[in-house]
Amino acid sequence: MPTIIPQLTIGAVDLGAAFLFMYGLKRMSSPVTAPSGIMVAGVGMAVAVLASFLYAFDVGAAARPHLMVNLGLAVLALALGGGVAWWSGRKVAMTAMPQMVAIYNGMGGGAAAAIAAVELFGDKPDGVTQLTVTLIGALIGAVSLSGSLVAWAKLDGVIKGPLRVRGQQVFNALVMAATLAVGGYIVAATHGVVASPLATPDLIWLFLGCALAFGVLMTLPIGGADMPVVISIYNAFTGLAVGLEGFVLQNPALMIAGMVVGAAGTLLTLLMAKAMNRSVGNILFTNFGVAPRHVQGDIKGSLKPVEASDAGIFMRYAASVIIVPGYGLAVAQGQQKLYEFVKLLQAAGVSVKFAVHPVAGRMPGQMDVLLAEAGVPYDMIFQLEDINDEFATTDVALVIGANDVVNPAARTDKSSPIFGMPILNADKAKKVYVVKRGEGKGYAGIVNALFYGDNCDMVYGDAAAVLTKMIEAVRALGSKAAA
Ligand code: TAP
Repeated sequence: MPTIIPQLTIGAVDLGAAFLFMYGLKRMSSPVTAPSGIMVAGVGMAVAVLASFLYAFDVGAAARPHLMVNLGLAVLALALGGGVAWWSGRKVAMTAMPQMVAIYNGMGGGAAAAIAAVELFGDKPDGVTQLTVTLIGALIGAVSLSGSLVAWAKLDGVIKGPLRVRGQQVFNALVMAATLAVGGYIVAATHGVVASPLATPDLIWLFLGCALAFGVLMTLPIGGADMPVVISIYNAFTGLAVGLEGFVLQNPALMIAGMVVGAAGTLLTLLMAKAMNRSVGNILFTNFGVAPRHVQGDIKGSLKPVEASDAGIFMRYAASVIIVPGYGLAVAQGQQKLYEFVKLLQAAGVSVKFAVHPVAGRMPGQMDVLLAEAGVPYDMIFQLEDINDEFATTDVALVIGANDVVNPAARTDKSSPIFGMPILNADKAKKVYVVKRGEGKGYAGIVNALFYGDNCDMVYGDAAAVLTKMIEAVRALGSKAAA
């Protein structure tokens, strides 16, 4: 009885936690309900973690003398991990969010690999299936840990640029083959099919070492532009590893949470790849965003700088304006100023809409979150497919801190690394204003013909500073009219 009650309680709580994960995830599908969805899923996770302490009532005789120490260590780990996550989550800049996701994801993969290692070194997996599942979980978790750490280092600028050498893909394939061979050998040696010259723990170390090395080798050659997609792939890996270890431990909460994360990561990866019109294989095994083939000579026309105040006043007298926000708006943290400017335009009778590209910024949904932060109503925000036809009949497209997502080369230039990516048709508007600091390129590292078009003027400066000037100009106009 003393073991059945905790087991039943854990099972019931895990089921409740699983429901909260799913319901939370469902709410995350809309920016309106996403904040509460995150809270709901967080409560689910907290409940599942607390319920796991009930296992203390169910430990075997051998573990009982260590119970208090182990419980103390678990509480300490939770306090330390929770504290660091709380502190870093509060202070992280919006633009550094992808790095943070990468490192947290790596920790998840590492935790799954560590659970597998404990099982393997403790000689616990029983039978071929159990051992194979544990090894697969260890492999995927270890690849996700080391790969995510390299992704973090690249996004944070610790590792600069992709590292490529001739024959790298073949070498990587050989490392993966060696890892699988060692894993197979462990299964065969453990079940007496082959006699091993190495002790099983040595083989396990070799296996984990190869898996970690593969994660590093696989991620090093991938360009920075593809890092968010790579992180999403590792996110799916982590979910899968956690799910597999949940199966090994027979823990339903781990199984369900792992599978939900695995499925969500896989779908997100596919959506991001689709939005860039590229396959996942192409992202992992090609050299995107490294060697720009476009030079300024390819493009006709010239860059035409104008004053922020003139652009602001022009928009004040337009009938319709579509705003295309991009990564630079997040860098400048100009979202509040942008909405302040928009409200002035609306007060003057201008119809204003926001056009959001699925991969604008550096992580999925970044622009939606940014605009929500500023209080922009959701009915003013339109996704690419819903607004793209409207540019042709719009007076002004205001491109603010965006570049690749409005680059017409994606439509026509087969030699462009972004060829085939759906873009926002900003170039089709009657007038285009582009706000950026100078002649910096977008993440794909290529020149943008839109900026040289006859209908396009450049408003140089930090997005927040430019918007401040636009606001002042439009306000001054209002006060002149009143005087
Ligand atoms: P980008 O093409 O990266 O262009 C951003 C532009 O903002 C730059 O040209 C830069 O020019 C300007 N900028 C930077 N700081 C600024 C500031 N403080 N004020 C004003 N302008 C500033 O951005 P995008 O159009 O949003 O495109 C996103 C890119 O990231 C795409 O290539 C996409 O494929 C890639 N990507 C995104 C994701 C996700 S999920 N969002 C995932 C993978 C890859 P200056 O330096 O001249 O100012």
